[in-house]
Amino acid sequence: MGKFTEYIGSQFGNPRGFVGKCCCVIMNIINKAMYRRIVSAVCLTEHSKALDIGYGNGYLIEQLYKKYHSEIYGIDISEDMKNHAEKRNRRALIDGKLHLETGDCCNMRYDDCFFDAVTSVNTVYFWSDTVQGLKEIHRTLKADGVFCNVVYTKEWLQSLAYTKKGFKFFEREDFIRQGKQAGFTEVSIQEISKGKSFMVIYRK
Ligand SMILES: C[S@@+](CC[C@H](N)C(=O)[O-])C[C@H]1O[C@@H](n2cnc3c(N)ncnc32)[C@H](O)[C@@H]1O
Repeated sequence: MGKFTEYIGSQFGNPRGFVGKCCCVIMNIINKAMYRRIVSAVCLTEHSKALDIGYGNGYLIEQLYKKYHSEIYGIDISEDMKNHAEKRNRRALIDGKLHLETGDCCNMRYDDCFFDAVTSVNTVYFWSDTVQGLKEIHRTLKADGVFCNVVYTKEWLQSLAYTKKGFKFFEREDFIRQGKQAGFTEVSIQEISKGKSFMVIYRK
């Protein structure tokens, strides 16, 4: 893999600077079906608390807030993304309903049983410890909480040039096994685009 391709791949796992900003805009365009599916799946109200893991430039948060007006939290390891996501979500910020931070989802400071729902689009490939991340999500979800995790299939990811380094690949069975290992009682899969993407739904 060439240095440039490797660099682009690293930008998806931790977007930085102008190139990171551009990568996020590209994701917003090509991943529309993924965002749409997660927004319709979570079922929030204006009183709900939701967490988006790896919010990037805050595109999903914008869609969630438009539809539900919920209290929205976000955690992302990229320091640059917080500014972009806050700019994009100025309305929610002014309303006092947006709480973004820079950090790692494998080690979160939120209280136990705090969120009604947790969302994530294309971030799990980059977590340092998948089961630990899932345990953290399980811990911070309320008893009837749900985690909607939208991902590309292993086959699709492996067909892309820039995923050769820094990406972890998972089969559907891996998601189910890891979810159970982290304590979720029910883990199910919903197709988004056959052979290309799906959503994993974890119930506490
Ligand atoms: C491919 S981008 C997806 C961004 C956004 N979810 C979207 O779909 O537009 C992956 C994002 O996950 C973030 N990320 C990677 N590892 C993370 C971790 N351990 N905890 C929190 N965020 C993480 C990256 O910084 C990046 O913003």
